[in-house]
Amino acid sequence: MQATARANTNIALIKYWGKRDEDLFLPMNSSISITLDQFYTTTTVQFCESISADLFVFNQQLANEAETLKVTRFLDIVRKMAGKEWFALVHSTNKVPTAAGLASSASGFAALAAASAKAIGLDLEEKELSKLARQGSGSASRSIFGGFVEWQKGTRTDGDDSYAKPILREQDWKLSILSVIVASREKKVSSREGMRRTVETSAFYSGWLETVERDMEIARAAINERDFERLGEVVEANALKMHATTLGAKPPFTYWQKGTMEVMTLIQSLRAQGMAAYFTIDAGPNVKVLCLPKDEQRVREKLLMLSTVQHVYTCHPGSGISFLPTSKNKKIPYDLESDRKDICYLSR
Ligand code: PMV
Repeated sequence: MQATARANTNIALIKYWGKRDEDLFLPMNSSISITLDQFYTTTTVQFCESISADLFVFNQQLANEAETLKVTRFLDIVRKMAGKEWFALVHSTNKVPTAAGLASSASGFAALAAASAKAIGLDLEEKELSKLARQGSGSASRSIFGGFVEWQKGTRTDGDDSYAKPILREQDWKLSILSVIVASREKKVSSREGMRRTVETSAFYSGWLETVERDMEIARAAINERDFERLGEVVEANALKMHATTLGAKPPFTYWQKGTMEVMTLIQSLRAQGMAAYFTIDAGPNVKVLCLPKDEQRVREKLLMLSTVQHVYTCHPGSGISFLPTSKNKKIPYDLESDRKDICYLSR
């Protein structure tokens, strides 16, 4: 009744931007990502007949009500699938550098999906795990797989055809992805809110929908042919187009900050000097730079010369979900067991 799973985070090359169903996390468009090898979440789920509420321990601390509710909502889906009513202790650790500002919902829900499904006795193949992870966070559907991954949007209203599948294994194309952390202070618009506002109000959203399928075709072909420049061009253009939709929303917003713009300008000028490097940006100010391993060190050095750049983490394509043995210290700690009656917000 317990299992431990690890999932890496991913960066979108062709973005998922907009939901057609918010409850089932069904996207307006298909997307492509690379699973990264450096940032991951490890999650242990232990279902117990003897506890009367879910407990969520995140990075060694009991999580707050809002975080716990997200986990409980997700476990409710798993419980329903398994026909069981057991509550669980969920113990999750993020290996994402502190203050890196990197989204961890993809690795978080992919690891939770895999660990909880296994712990409750569901024997799900990867496609089914992808559908399950999607219902925690859309981008999590892609983190089930390693390497280059496509999430097909599907057309069904029940979401049964909306899941990810691998395009190219991680060992088959060793690109470098530099994760550039820029100084940031402002409050961020969540991806959920950003998508909703853009879909409902942006004058530019129809342009996004009209062109994203073509971007998918180009990216898919470039990955299959290992054509780095073709891939880089469509990745950068697709990111700029996604971010342009936010400027057309009411009220308008942007995820970009001073450092974001400086990194973009640097990458474009390096390219003008003949270096093959391209950027992409998710729903936040940090930038991911794609380049070939032979240029990795030079691009990194240039990035670190910018005063707004705080860190550059070098990543490569990483693996999909893995299951680990559950270590003894991940079992329900004695003090949490005895404190549990006081944690009234965890009860349903
Ligand atoms: O699934 P979420 O809520 O983490 O949203 C992801 C949104 C983007 O990162 C901007 C694009 C993507 O495809 O990952």
